[in-house]
Amino acid sequence: MAIEELKSAEFLNKLEKGEPITIAFYYPDQKIMKLLNSIFAKILAKMDFIYLLDTLVTIQREIIINAAKANAKRIFFQEAGLDINDPHQYDEGMARFRNEVVGELESIRIKLLNSPLKIRVQIQKSEKGILITVTNNTPILPKELERIQLRMAKARQYNDFSEAYEEMYDSTEGAGLGIVLVTLLLKNSGIGVESHTITSDGSSTTCKLLIPKTIRPEEITTKIKKQIIQQVEGLPTFPKHILELQRMCQDPDASISEISKKILIDPALTSEVLKLSNSAGFVPSKRIENVAEAVVTIGLKNLNAILLTTGARQILDKRFSKFEQIWNHCNKTAFYARFLALKFRLSKIVENVYLAGLLHDLGKIVLLSTNLDLTNWISEIVNNRKIRTSTIMEEVSIGISHSTIGELIAKHWEFPEFLTESIRLHHSPLSAKPEYRDQINITYLANMFCGVETKKYDYYYFEGEVLEQYGIDSIEQLQKLHEEIAKRYETNA
Ligand SMILES: [Fe+2]
Ligand SMILES: [Fe+2]
Repeated sequence: MAIEELKSAEFLNKLEKGEPITIAFYYPDQKIMKLLNSIFAKILAKMDFIYLLDTLVTIQREIIINAAKANAKRIFFQEAGLDINDPHQYDEGMARFRNEVVGELESIRIKLLNSPLKIRVQIQKSEKGILITVTNNTPILPKELERIQLRMAKARQYNDFSEAYEEMYDSTEGAGLGIVLVTLLLKNSGIGVESHTITSDGSSTTCKLLIPKTIRPEEITTKIKKQIIQQVEGLPTFPKHILELQRMCQDPDASISEISKKILIDPALTSEVLKLSNSAGFVPSKRIENVAEAVVTIGLKNLNAILLTTGARQILDKRFSKFEQIWNHCNKTAFYARFLALKFRLSKIVENVYLAGLLHDLGKIVLLSTNLDLTNWISEIVNNRKIRTSTIMEEVSIGISHSTIGELIAKHWEFPEFLTESIRLHHSPLSAKPEYRDQINITYLANMFCGVETKKYDYYYFEGEVLEQYGIDSIEQLQKLHEEIAKRYETNA
């Protein structure tokens, strides 16, 4: 079946009519995953559960990868001439399988493509909600099923992922970790652990997941979360001279020379203003060395962006560890966002997305300062398991994500709403209110491009629904756009 030719919208029409959607494949490649993501995005949007998208995508990915691993296991045993039902040979085969295949499923891709072993994903609307069934045509051994069920039961007892940390951080077996992850995601998202079942009928294995019509997300309260919230609440207000400058920017009677004089009191502020006025996007005809001239060149809106960023940085650097890397990443994101807004002719939001780019990862500084070991472990899991965003892992492990921490900080400092919303949703643009849609999309895209450069993300992670809005309909087009920005940045930085 040439599933790629069918658009997710057509699938959705079928679903609405009550017909099941079926997607069958031999190997879960990026195209399949992207198609499924797009279908899920549409289904969840319709149910008004779009905030669940990353959770559902992550759970589904784990389930599908497990199904593919189960098929791969059969092929592996067959090729090695080992009998999977013989306990001795099972242990020997499993040890080799873990070493050679698990973690590198790609290595067995061709064999899977040429095998009769399939994975079938069926999505159907039911009385209770949306039922997703993943079937692979190999049975699961009774003792394997028993082990999985034991692990699921154990995982249900954890309140958050950090509780699993002590026991699992040196765990070499990915499967155990995957079950804990899925269970906690189901629990905390409100989908519910009972919505997920695994059964086997002797010839195939079926994994069911029901997204119920009503969902009650559970809130996780951890020690770290409490500590973080307290820290945010205890943050001081901005330095006086910065607040004063912000007021002057809004005062039509304030003169450029008065503003400039006040900027000059603060060396960090002065250097930021000069740096921006001489940077790409403003392309002055000669080097600007005078603050008044710099203010005129960048305009008061951009000056305000520098005021907010410098103020935030001065406070956070004093209270928490200094994370130069995060600020550099934010500078680049801001540049990319500005470029994208200009490129898409969204001239009204150029300054806003620049500011959002500068401050989008504020929460990360607090998060990393609080427990570096745990956050490093989280990012390792996010990378290994190809989770599209670190935020959901942060939520299940710590109870709060860096986006939400950023939002809390932004509210504490009374940032304008567009900025608070851009910080909150820079990893989940589909949840944006219509009035901030472009700003959040652009911040999201700019951040994604930066993530691709650090190998954190892949082009196929990009939300198709967002790309569509800017007429980007292929990976090649996306890559070209990225190359264009990166080049601009290189030549102007
Ligand atoms: Fe982020
Ligand atoms: Fe970021």
